[in-house]
Amino acid sequence: MQDKIAKVLVTEEELAAKVKAIGAKISEDYAGKRPLLVSVLKGSIVFMADLMRAITIECDIDFMSCSSYGRSSKSSGVVRILKDLDNDINGRHIIVIEDILDSGLTLSYILELLQTRGAASIALCTLLDKPDRRKVDISVNYPGFTIPDEFVVGYGLDYGELYRNLPYIGVLKPEVYTD
Ligand code: IMP
Ligand code: MG
Repeated sequence: MQDKIAKVLVTEEELAAKVKAIGAKISEDYAGKRPLLVSVLKGSIVFMADLMRAITIECDIDFMSCSSYGRSSKSSGVVRILKDLDNDINGRHIIVIEDILDSGLTLSYILELLQTRGAASIALCTLLDKPDRRKVDISVNYPGFTIPDEFVVGYGLDYGELYRNLPYIGVLKPEVYTD
């Protein structure tokens, strides 16, 4: 896989330091509140797995999986729930854990949906942010890294389901792209 990578954008060490800092902040902010961490599959699983171990207070975890309607690779903002949460979130303090905030269309749909279910509070934690691509206004309570408008892989993020298992965030060589 290594030979497909043009450059490393965020190193393993930078990721580990950021995860530790976000975990400490969440632990402080949610002391005594037992937050429910909601991971949006699949891209956020690596971040989620590391982040939950950097959180030192009691918390629950849950997962949801969504896909955009239609065949277009461009996000439409219309989202289909493939796997819903197991937990009733009424009265719970929710922290949505995402890999990357791009157009923001998927996330704003998810946040609105969770809001209608009576959560006590909803916060957003996203590892990466591409502000240049934003189409809707969305605020991040726990941001990781701001990155330029480049397609990235690794640490959970994929290209055609590959490269999720790279331990860093990188950019693929142009010849790897098939479309
Ligand atoms: P959006 O914010 O609704 O446009 O969708 C964001 C989703 O698109 C993310 O959760 C990722 O699954 C995917 N995505 C956006 N940018 C990238 C990238 O650079 N690499 C890999 N996946 C990406
Ligand atoms: Mg995702």
